[in-house]
Amino acid sequence: MGHPASWAALLVLSTAWQLVLGGAAGGGRRSPHNIVLILTDDQDTEIGGMTPMKKTQALIGQAGVSFPNAFTVTPLCCPSRSSLLSGRYPHNHLVRNNSLEGNCSSPAWQKNQEPLAFPSYLQRQGYQTFYAGKYLNQYGQPAAGGVQHVPLGWSYWNGLVGNSRYYNYTLSANGREERHGQRYQDDYLTDLITNRSLEFLQKWSHPPFLMVLAPPASHSPWTAAPGYATAYNTTKAPRNGSFNVHGKDKHWLVRQARSPMANTSIEFLDKAYRERWQTLLSVDDLVERVVGRLKALDLLASTYVFYTSDNGYHAGQFSLPIDKRQLYEFDIRVPLLVRGPGIKANQTRLEPILNIDLGPTFLDIAGLNVSQTAMDGQSFLPLLVTPAQPSTWRADFLVQYTGEGHPDRDPACPALGPGVSQCFPDCVCEDAFNNTYACVRALHPHSLQYCEFADRQAFVELYNLTADPHQLHNVARSVDPTLLEALNQRLIKLQACEGPSCRG
Ligand SMILES: *[C@@H]1O[C@H](CO)[C@@H](O)[C@H](O)[C@H]1NC(C)=O
Ligand SMILES: *[C@@H]1O[C@H](CO)[C@@H](O)[C@H](O)[C@H]1NC(C)=O
Ligand SMILES: *[C@@H]1O[C@H](CO)[C@@H](O)[C@H](O)[C@H]1NC(C)=O
Ligand SMILES: *[C@@H]1O[C@H](CO)[C@@H](O)[C@H](O)[C@H]1NC(C)=O
Ligand SMILES: *[C@@H]1O[C@H](CO)[C@@H](O)[C@H](O)[C@H]1NC(C)=O
Ligand SMILES: *[C@@H]1O[C@H](CO)[C@@H](O)[C@H](O)[C@H]1NC(C)=O
Ligand SMILES: *[C@@H]1O[C@H](CO)[C@@H](O)[C@H](O)[C@H]1NC(C)=O
Ligand SMILES: *[C@@H]1O[C@H](CO)[C@@H](O)[C@H](O)[C@H]1NC(C)=O
Ligand SMILES: *[C@@H]1O[C@H](CO)[C@@H](O)[C@H](O)[C@H]1NC(C)=O
Ligand SMILES: *[C@@H]1O[C@H](CO)[C@@H](O)[C@H](O)[C@H]1NC(C)=O
Ligand SMILES: *[C@@H]1O[C@H](CO)[C@@H](O)[C@H](O)[C@H]1NC(C)=O
Repeated sequence: MGHPASWAALLVLSTAWQLVLGGAAGGGRRSPHNIVLILTDDQDTEIGGMTPMKKTQALIGQAGVSFPNAFTVTPLCCPSRSSLLSGRYPHNHLVRNNSLEGNCSSPAWQKNQEPLAFPSYLQRQGYQTFYAGKYLNQYGQPAAGGVQHVPLGWSYWNGLVGNSRYYNYTLSANGREERHGQRYQDDYLTDLITNRSLEFLQKWSHPPFLMVLAPPASHSPWTAAPGYATAYNTTKAPRNGSFNVHGKDKHWLVRQARSPMANTSIEFLDKAYRERWQTLLSVDDLVERVVGRLKALDLLASTYVFYTSDNGYHAGQFSLPIDKRQLYEFDIRVPLLVRGPGIKANQTRLEPILNIDLGPTFLDIAGLNVSQTAMDGQSFLPLLVTPAQPSTWRADFLVQYTGEGHPDRDPACPALGPGVSQCFPDCVCEDAFNNTYACVRALHPHSLQYCEFADRQAFVELYNLTADPHQLHNVARSVDPTLLEALNQRLIKLQACEGPSCRG
């Protein structure tokens, strides 16, 4: 199964590139390149999530490289963001869900993981580090240290307390509480992030700097800016692929979905779909204004700009109304666009890139040796700045998810038993404690996904995405058992990996 990356070959490439640019290997720094990361929330690529981003596609994608095979290693906000920051798989950073008990922004995370995350390394390397927007879902709560806690590594901090909001929120402004109401001109969070970013660039930035901009869009509660509140008023979620198809050969939770969906569910998901797109128009403006300001300040040629999301999303796929906690392509694939020094325009690269690769790439840009950190991901800087070398990249990777549930029975849906969550009025639930899975997703030599569930059935799903790109047929029962055996062995290996053993 698969011939994962030759890490040694990659190091050679990386080193060669350093020499070309005149950087000193082993500690010295190259010409200081800035890094801007724009991180959206719940933005899919599979069901049209990038359609509203016309300016973003032109200013980042067409000015640089698009990665159609970019993935999160876990499709839920807090574990995914924790992976992005630490460059580690969930089994190594131990953030399991969106609550404090699951280590989201917990004291254990702060003590053990924040020091190993990319902002700490970049700050120590002399970077100015600026953050604005949503951080980790429990950030700012009293048990997580309150607004006084500014996570390690950030010199300019504007962190949202709690989960996504557009109005009526609290920020930690460098450790000081700042409350916001619901006046568009003063408070709309996506615009406030834009304004603070422009101010940072204009007044305080000295290269090299790192900026992370994390708007709430396109996460609920989907409050559009007034100018966009009537946009897409006839748009509906796409009816293709697995839309309104019963996942009857899938794991327990998906089998519970009512299919075809009730009309009320379809109306609900269409409305959510439209409103998500409306909120993204303000992010498209953010990108335009930040790139415009970089250009005006003559910083564009020395700045890498990355655009991605923490996870994907679904709207009616396998008759699940809306959410993101499933193993399927719509939930694990994310947008990834990059522009910057040495990157040719209008490129598409097909290598699988993971959210745990962003930290290693940022370290590489800063001249740091990723092999000397605890990160599981690998730098894709060589892919950005050199012609295709596909044989040197990974062939497969791990996807992990720990299901969330309520310990009590839902009084509205007693038949489902305790342990479910995210339930809709018709008792279709999007999550459960036993929606806990680990998968191998292989792209070469075949496009396959193999998943094992920690449920009473030890359920297995296997998809041949070459033949079945929409994952309509679970072939776990019909395939040659030696393939299942090989994938099971590969999964066991990846679930125990750490650092270099995750890369090859
Ligand atoms: C990076 O660190 C690893 C492990 O310490 C070492 O083997 C390698 O030579 C270093 N690479 C460079 C380019 O310095
Ligand atoms: C990229 O491709 C688009 C569409 O083909 C084209 O309009 C644009 O000019 C190209 N951009 C660059 C910088 O080459
Ligand atoms: C949270 O992290 C701590 C230490 O890092 C670890 O001991 C604990 O098991 C983690 N909790 C979960 C639910 O994984
Ligand atoms: C903001 O809070 C006010 C006062 O509690 C409330 O009336 C209003 O509906 C809230 N607005 C939003 C958009 O949540
Ligand atoms: C952002 O700045 C613009 C002017 O540049 C202003 O019109 C707008 O009200 C500001 N929005 C927020 C939320 O600060
Ligand atoms: C949609 O918006 C357009 C222009 O803003 C308006 O003319 C049209 O009446 C709206 N349609 C619906 C169904 O609200
Ligand atoms: C379904 O349609 C949407 C919107 O046109 C498109 O983005 C997506 O790629 C299509 N998906 C499939 C499975 O064909
Ligand atoms: C649901 O919508 C379909 C298509 O619009 C319609 O044919 C059907 O009668 C509706 N069912 C109910 C129960 O409203
Ligand atoms: C999150 O994980 C912790 C630790 O495993 C668990 O105690 C808690 O119930 C989980 N939270 C939810 C909402 O599932
Ligand atoms: C999953 O959990 C639900 C809720 O506790 C339970 O009803 C169901 O039987 C479980 N399914 C499996 C396969 O473990
Ligand atoms: C997957 O499907 C492709 C195309 O139909 C086929 O060539 C290949 O043998 C299949 N792979 C497996 C493992 O079944």
